[in-house]
Amino acid sequence: MNYAGFSSAVRTLVFWVLLVLLDSVMGGQVTSLFSKVGGSFVEKECLLSTVVPATTGMDLRRACSSICMLTASCSFFCSLTSTGTCALFKAFVAVRWQGHQVSTTGTKYDACYTSWGDPRDIVKTNSPFTYSTALTIYYPQFATDGYACVAPAYFVTGLYTNSFSQIDLQQTTRVQKVIAATAWPRHIIDMDVILSNTSDFNLGQKIGRVVGDTPAWSTYTIVTNSSVAGRYITFYQIAMNHHGYADIQIIPQP
Ligand SMILES: *[C@@H]1O[C@H](CO)[C@@H](O)[C@H](O)[C@H]1NC(C)=O
Ligand SMILES: *[C@@H]1O[C@H](CO)[C@@H](O)[C@H](O)[C@H]1NC(C)=O
Repeated sequence: MNYAGFSSAVRTLVFWVLLVLLDSVMGGQVTSLFSKVGGSFVEKECLLSTVVPATTGMDLRRACSSICMLTASCSFFCSLTSTGTCALFKAFVAVRWQGHQVSTTGTKYDACYTSWGDPRDIVKTNSPFTYSTALTIYYPQFATDGYACVAPAYFVTGLYTNSFSQIDLQQTTRVQKVIAATAWPRHIIDMDVILSNTSDFNLGQKIGRVVGDTPAWSTYTIVTNSSVAGRYITFYQIAMNHHGYADIQIIPQP
């Protein structure tokens, strides 16, 4: 929406009217677009702004999700009840998954929500992760930490053919969906997704494929339709190329 020509007071009023309209039209759907994430300790790197919502009669979570939806680049927010504040982030997830060491700088919120993170995700920060090669500063631990925000918090292989990365799900799983948060463009191209019972993915079954290229800083969902069970999920790319992403989520079949 372009309302740049108006004074800032009018813009603020328009924003709040939009917010109330959005909430009344979408009702509970606004809130359900965002899932609660496991942690609430967030570093400032991807903070867009903090906002104290005007009194609209909505609870804080609903007000924050509506404001996030009306704010360009916002895909993650946290709320702080004591001050009635929403913190908006330009990140898919800015809280690391279970198993990550908590950092000492940042803010502890009451709760955080993302439009990307799926509560059914079974990847943890410390899920065993192997790969063909890795570029020096794009450490492998960034592939499964839940954090999809600023550089270099993503994983990239070296420039070779037959590159792969593999997550050990640590239990036999039927995979319904694989969701990737991409980082660089042209880093997931014609990529096969393979499920196997051992780390030797040559013995596994192909359960999906990314045909063509994926755009930078976006999310890409591979619906596998798989009825096959396996423990290791492998991303495999034949072409001579880097291969990498900011984060991966694996959603099992119910
Ligand atoms: C893994 O093992 C189970 C049980 O033997 C089998 O049903 C399944 O098809 C195997 N999965 C793959 C990907 O080979
Ligand atoms: C999943 O099923 C849909 C509908 O049958 C099909 O179009 C799609 O290609 C399938 N995806 C895979 C990875 O097999």
